[in-house]
Amino acid sequence: MNVLGIETSCDETAIAVVEDGRRILSSVVSSQVELHAEYGGVVPELASRRHVEAMIPVLDEAIAGTACRLEDIDAVAVTHGPGLAGALLVGLNFAKALAYAMSRPLVAINHLEGHIYAAWLERERGPRFPLLALIVSGGHSDVVLMEGHGRYRRLGETVDDAAGEAFDKVARLLGLGFPGGPAIDRLASATAHSPPAHLPRARLARPYDFSFSGLKTKVQRIVRGEEGEAPPAAELAAAFQESVVDSLVTKAVQAARDHGASEIVLAGGVAANSLLRSSLAERSPLPVVVPPQALCTDNGAMIAAAGWRRLQAGETAPLDLDVEPGLRIG
Ligand code: KG4
Ligand code: ZN
Repeated sequence: MNVLGIETSCDETAIAVVEDGRRILSSVVSSQVELHAEYGGVVPELASRRHVEAMIPVLDEAIAGTACRLEDIDAVAVTHGPGLAGALLVGLNFAKALAYAMSRPLVAINHLEGHIYAAWLERERGPRFPLLALIVSGGHSDVVLMEGHGRYRRLGETVDDAAGEAFDKVARLLGLGFPGGPAIDRLASATAHSPPAHLPRARLARPYDFSFSGLKTKVQRIVRGEEGEAPPAAELAAAFQESVVDSLVTKAVQAARDHGASEIVLAGGVAANSLLRSSLAERSPLPVVVPPQALCTDNGAMIAAAGWRRLQAGETAPLDLDVEPGLRIG
């Protein structure tokens, strides 16, 4: 069964064709990073317009990359939340039009669920349940226990900034441009020795919650020279990254232990972070599944994979489905 996956929740127009929830026949991602870079962050209205322009070329390329024709698509899966309302609307309406015109079922996918299903792509077997998913992206930092297909329990979340958002904000403070995560990752890797600066980790009432805004304020004070002479940007980047990664790994591993998880799945754009990948692998007593980088950042294949699973369970969406920008998981 071939599922077309459509993803437009933020600044990537992405469409993929996935066979039986695992095998990627083609995956096309048209990134808007350059469009938004000069503003230092994603501008929602510009994102929506660019999605409109990109939809048909991206679909054509995705279909051309397979041996299929459009008629060989059996279902259309689409992200309906969470994300930017205008951006989601473009993808959802496009998906509805396709499903209607082709008389194929429409499947609604939660973007965060999509990130977890990246762990099933191009692998012989998927992760075992119960699994602990750490979903870290520009919009989310969630610790989710997945007890079976479609069964989620949110154990923790950020109380302020998402991890990726913190990377982006701190990169801006350090003059590193947008998106900030890869820039901080690169700069921090350039510091061969361990960073001398130690930045705080937030303590919170709920054991698996995160908070990163105090850390960002701390970096801001240091950069402004309010705490004495500021260390070089590379050291500050490394210290910041170490603090974020330490919080993420400590809480994910603790949550996995406390809830008897079999495996840990790392998902979302921040999963591309090299320190996060290595620390989690080092500190987790359980097997850790980290999808390849291209499947950690936003893509259509993960939406198609999650869509196939929902179709197996007989779950399709009506054509009056609406976007849910504030949708959560679990
Ligand atoms: O999942 P994603 O592609 O889009 C959202 O759904 O938000 O995640 C994008 C986020 C951005 O905040 C970006 O800075 C961050 O992922 N990111 C990274 C790295 N690569 C991307 N953060 C830290 N280290 C990286 N190497
Ligand atoms: Zn994402």
